[in-house]
Amino acid sequence: MTGRGDVAIVGAGPIGLAVAWRCVQRGRRVTVLDPAPGSGASSVAAGMLSPVSESYFGERELTALLVDSAARWPAFAAELGEAAGVDVGYRAEGTLVVALTADDLAAVDRLRGYQAGLGLPIEPLVGSALREREPLLAPGVRGGAHAPTDHQVDPRRLVPALRRAAVAAGVTIRAGAVTDLSTVDSETVVVAAGCGTAALTGLPIRPVKGQVLRLAAPGGEPGFRHVIRGHADGSSVYLVPRRGGEVVVGATEEERADAQVTAGAVRDLLRAATDLVPDLAEYALVETGVGHRPGTPDNAPVIGPLPGRPGVIVAAGHHRHGIVLTPVTADLVVDLIEGGAAPSPFTPDRFAEAVRG
Ligand code: GLY
Repeated sequence: MTGRGDVAIVGAGPIGLAVAWRCVQRGRRVTVLDPAPGSGASSVAAGMLSPVSESYFGERELTALLVDSAARWPAFAAELGEAAGVDVGYRAEGTLVVALTADDLAAVDRLRGYQAGLGLPIEPLVGSALREREPLLAPGVRGGAHAPTDHQVDPRRLVPALRRAAVAAGVTIRAGAVTDLSTVDSETVVVAAGCGTAALTGLPIRPVKGQVLRLAAPGGEPGFRHVIRGHADGSSVYLVPRRGGEVVVGATEEERADAQVTAGAVRDLLRAATDLVPDLAEYALVETGVGHRPGTPDNAPVIGPLPGRPGVIVAAGHHRHGIVLTPVTADLVVDLIEGGAAPSPFTPDRFAEAVRG
């Protein structure tokens, strides 16, 4: 039976679980529904927390949200780690942006100039300075930049930790599929269903396929400490080192919904990765995977009340930024449930026409 103030959350990915955890901390009775908890995009995500190096032209409001959420990460990771009794793999060594050729460097410098112009912390570095920080970088690397506040977390530790903390605090997680929101018996329903949010709400959220590889270093340590965002002869790649020797190599960005790992994508990712860090050619290729980012027409998330559906709140459409935006999204949704204002540039009403159909 539903009670006053009950909250049902559709989706047990990082966003849904973080909202659940924060809601139960405010004294709500919370149920999370998901047919396969933790099996969405977060199961392959690299976990980069990159508000600076992922700030792109024309996305100022999104950048401000990314910066806000990234600033919440250290406290969020510490609180979660303590509540769940596990280390969520938060690492603060920073990110190096690395350009192989002169053309790559021209593109990197252009974006870095824009990012620095916003007042974001990013410093240019010549090739020798990059290699001083990471000796495994190829001798031919031209230059790039250092983004000291772009950090990382391990989503494969994060999601189980959120589940554990949420359940310990009193959240109920049920393995159930929701195909119609009107069947969910709760005063408030939060839709945090990633790409599945489109079918439930009518919002224009589409899958953007990402192919991701995982390598294992022969010596049990990756050989580099920074997250590397690389540009190699016009191809982009990121390399995320983890303790224990894993290196995450990502990712394609394809307007497709299939889950096929393709030979061409594996070749392109490995070519770019080994052009930048030649030693990776000796690492074992231990996993290939596909995730689907929930993309929106303006690349920004959808957070707020669903037009025409009292009691329904959306927390979805985080596209490339689901992990970094987890803490701020949870806080915004909980504030909203407790009577606060919706975060104006990101509310679903900007897509009201699509919702009305
Ligand atoms: N944020 C990294 C990606 O979406 O591939």
